[in-house]
Amino acid sequence: MKIVQTESYEEASEVVAGMILEKVLSHPESVIGLATGKTMEPVYEALVREAKKSEVSFESCRFFMLDEYVGISPDHKSSFRTYIQDRVLRPLGIKKEQITFPPASAVDIKAAAQEYEESIKAAGGIDLQLLGIGRNGHIGFNEPGSLGDSRTRVVELTESTLEANKSEFPGEKMPTMALSMGIGTILEAKNLLMLATGESKAEVIKYILNHHEDVSCPATFLKEHSHFTLVVDPSAGSKINLKI
Ligand code: F6R
Repeated sequence: MKIVQTESYEEASEVVAGMILEKVLSHPESVIGLATGKTMEPVYEALVREAKKSEVSFESCRFFMLDEYVGISPDHKSSFRTYIQDRVLRPLGIKKEQITFPPASAVDIKAAAQEYEESIKAAGGIDLQLLGIGRNGHIGFNEPGSLGDSRTRVVELTESTLEANKSEFPGEKMPTMALSMGIGTILEAKNLLMLATGESKAEVIKYILNHHEDVSCPATFLKEHSHFTLVVDPSAGSKINLKI
């Protein structure tokens, strides 16, 4: 596990965007796993800005999404599909054939989740998986209690997640279920890149540094991965005490 402690919130997002660009430049056919959430918003802004400035092409990349809500239309304004279309696909001119979304609206969702896993494998696996982290340690929507070998499946969101994300659903009931890549699925990516920003993540970041394979905090499973980079801003990293 590599920890990158940055000097500011802006720098943290720029560092992550820079790592994505580096990956695409060195390997234009990269398969990238995208995450959503507030943490990723400035990352995608920086990515679009820098990609345009340095004319980096994403035309040979493939993309997979980490998760999606179950029970809302894919076109809902707060779906993760809409989020990624608005912030990444459209601004970077990425075609719809280049991305596969978790089949959260499928009738036979279990079979569709299995097919999703197979399409990741058929693409050669994920080269770089982006991740945020929930205050409760969730990765994707693998809530506490998720097992280290879990696969893409329907999950029930916890109170903590519902509370953290309810502002995305003003005036309506927030979905309580999601389809998420499993921890086992995530761990198969060749590189994991997690970003944590803000004070609300400081406690969980401290926790993952001090615990291993702890089902009460799914992010602790990532520490077993040989290419796991965690980028923190000063607030999220404020409780880390790294001995020099
Ligand atoms: C998003 C996702 C979640 C978020 C996490 C943090 O695709 O899978 O794990 O990364 O909930 O969300 P924010 O960034 O809104 O604090």
